[in-house]
Amino acid sequence: MTHKVHLIDHPLIQHKLTLMRQKNTAAAEFRRLLREISLLLGYEATRDLSMTTKEISTPLEHMDAPILAGKKMCFFSILRAGDGLLSGLLELVPSARIGHVGLYRDPKTLEAVEYYFKAPADLANRLCIVVDPMLATGHSASAALTRIKQAGAVNIRFICLLAAPDGIANLKEDHPDVPIFTGALDRECNEKGYILPGLGDAGDRLFGTRSGTIKD
Ligand code: URA
Repeated sequence: MTHKVHLIDHPLIQHKLTLMRQKNTAAAEFRRLLREISLLLGYEATRDLSMTTKEISTPLEHMDAPILAGKKMCFFSILRAGDGLLSGLLELVPSARIGHVGLYRDPKTLEAVEYYFKAPADLANRLCIVVDPMLATGHSASAALTRIKQAGAVNIRFICLLAAPDGIANLKEDHPDVPIFTGALDRECNEKGYILPGLGDAGDRLFGTRSGTIKD
């Protein structure tokens, strides 16, 4: 896997994303579309998984059939909007473990402060796919990746729905070893850290809350 930005602009992703961006799209539909897009992004992010073969018998003959080499995986949700991508990814790889990382930005020091972290113990042996729908400034994502590496992860990929140029630049600078898979590259972040044109606060739209502020 090359360490770069993979823009997965499949027509189905673009169409579903347009539906998600529209402000009148209800939470239930937003959630369903995010799950559907996560299947398509996950499909691309796992395209080069290593394979082996297994001897099987079809009703007609024996064959050496391809199967996954059994590399263990962990999906990491960056709370809280990352949870919206988990169910689709788990449909693709039901045996994957799940990690969660929750961070907020201290308004005075601007440092990322961890409020939750839970992960499987054997991260070094797993392909870790870290998910957050919105890669805005990249500060939270970068802090989350640093924390996940501290916990032992060495083989990491990052999946998002939308990415802004700042987020891509910061992640490339801080974590050049982590390839990024995104459904779209948007124009910029505004002064509050929202992606433009974007889709608003992904967590609020996913869960039907309205906090008005975002952490990234
Ligand atoms: N997080 C969001 O939910 N939306 C943005 O636009 C940026 C960060």
